[in-house]
Amino acid sequence: MCGIVGYTGAKKAAPILIEGLTGLEYRGYDSSGVAVLENGQIKMVKAKGRLKNLVELTDNGERLPGTVGIGHTRWATHGEPSDVNSHPHISKSGRFAVVHNGIIENYLELRDFLIARGYEFVSQTDTEVIAHLIEYYYNGDPVETLRKVMNKLEGSYALGVLSCYAPDTFYAARKDSPLVVGLGEHENFIASDMPAVLKYTRRFLLIDDGEIVAVSPTAASVFNRNREPVEKQPFTVEWDVSAAEKNGYPHFMLKEIYEQPKAVEATLSPRIKNGDIVLDTIAWTEEQMRTFDKINVVACGSAYHAGMIGKYFIEKLCRIPVEIDVASEFRYRAPIVDNRTLTVVISQSGETADTLAGLREAKKLGSRVLSIVNVVGSSIARESDDVLYTWAGPEIAVATTKGYTSQVAALMLLGLKLARVRGTVTQAQFTELLGELQALPDQIRAVLDRNVEQIQYLSSVYFASNDAFFIGRGMDYALALEGALKLKEISYIHAESYAAGELKHGTISLIEKGSLVIAVAVDKRLQDKMRSNIKEVKTRGATVIALAPVGNNLASEVDHVVTLPDCGEDTYPVVAVTALQLLGYYIASARGCDIDKPRNLAKSVTVE
Ligand code: AGP
Repeated sequence: MCGIVGYTGAKKAAPILIEGLTGLEYRGYDSSGVAVLENGQIKMVKAKGRLKNLVELTDNGERLPGTVGIGHTRWATHGEPSDVNSHPHISKSGRFAVVHNGIIENYLELRDFLIARGYEFVSQTDTEVIAHLIEYYYNGDPVETLRKVMNKLEGSYALGVLSCYAPDTFYAARKDSPLVVGLGEHENFIASDMPAVLKYTRRFLLIDDGEIVAVSPTAASVFNRNREPVEKQPFTVEWDVSAAEKNGYPHFMLKEIYEQPKAVEATLSPRIKNGDIVLDTIAWTEEQMRTFDKINVVACGSAYHAGMIGKYFIEKLCRIPVEIDVASEFRYRAPIVDNRTLTVVISQSGETADTLAGLREAKKLGSRVLSIVNVVGSSIARESDDVLYTWAGPEIAVATTKGYTSQVAALMLLGLKLARVRGTVTQAQFTELLGELQALPDQIRAVLDRNVEQIQYLSSVYFASNDAFFIGRGMDYALALEGALKLKEISYIHAESYAAGELKHGTISLIEKGSLVIAVAVDKRLQDKMRSNIKEVKTRGATVIALAPVGNNLASEVDHVVTLPDCGEDTYPVVAVTALQLLGYYIASARGCDIDKPRNLAKSVTVE
């Protein structure tokens, strides 16, 4: 997704803008640019490709004067990656420059409106209409001008606007795309995400939909859609800059895989007190917990896969139906939701547009919404009735790992709490499962200690595969989905996941000699069934790697067995997924892929 930064203060702006954009690279992009203001003139440099191209063109920003500016990394939506389609975009007279994250859905109509009034377009982007609209409506009051422009825009946007009329001030606004204001000492910033400027400040203003900000070196003035001033309390970030550094790991993804024990522990421990579960940030009464007669889970990608694990776990314990939807489908199926439905929205970034739209749909239908989110103060967190934060710390790699395992741990905690309040587990079961949850960090550590070498070896043998089939049953199927996604999104190998029992209903026609099949067979209760499915593919020539628990007797049935340390019958997915993450990581590493920033992907998908 696009990244936005802005700076105003006493320092040269361009080097700070480029440094900030570097901190947003993980969001995914294909071009970048900066615009600064000097002596009333806007100077702009932008380029297709990686940030290093911009660095070379500007000598890392040193060649650009001016102490106020805006910068952008573009993830193309309208118009191919190119210099001219890169942001910033300049208005007709050159008096305004704009950077934008989001999609303007009515940009063609606005383009016609402007062309009819003599404006000419040089790019294929939706964003360029904003630059010209600002010029068209400009009346000497930039905030009022932005307000008028926003009333014309349909879609999503986070904007940074530079004006030649404001020597040390720039402007910003948002709707549905993330934007924060960083509050420094006699200098202020905007950014799409806090890591971009964390080096300069830990204090931020969280900008809400419809709000406009005028940012000068000494003030950040926030206005609502009616141009009324809005008072905001600064939010202080607790995690340190090093958390957003690699600390010696070759990739953020590997670092974050190894951070999982700590991330799961940080998510669980504060909520387990005196043998009970305290869902600190949730304001439900126990009576309310008993009234829910259905749970809807809404999420995307890995968060959806985490939700699938949660479905199995919560349905088994609480005996209430748990429906699950990919967020982009949820609101189009006329979901059956009312005030007795609990909607659980899962999102690591807390900014995924599809998921935010699903949240709003559920609220409109009367459901109480609980979000499981990793970014404090993110849009999804702020629009939920309750938030159960995962405390995984900043996750930089596009492929989520600790974000996913923390989500599953949080879902299990939620499920166990609901089961206890609803009386569907005995005290003994509750105590046993609580113990299983508390054992998770050490069990993940055991995988990281014992299985890595074998997985590295297997990756060196199979990294050249063109296809991979992940199969499993029950929670192992949900794990297989996540394993396939991890592999394909960073190695670009075509990897798919199938319910193991489903393979023979069509897909098995693809299995031939040498086909790579990853059999996720960790659930001991389903091992005999999995054995039959393994036989089906083996007899057709497949090469099978099985992921299985201690005591499995699959060695004679498969080509390789990755044997996991002992883990809980109901909580093992949090442990087993680590092996699948490592497999994806080392295969992608062997293929020389750009692991932390895979092609076409973004860390936070803030467009629908
Ligand atoms: C996971 O590795 C992918 N990067 C992607 O599927 C991701 O899980 C999905 O886009 C949802 O993101 P979110 O959790 O931030 O909402």
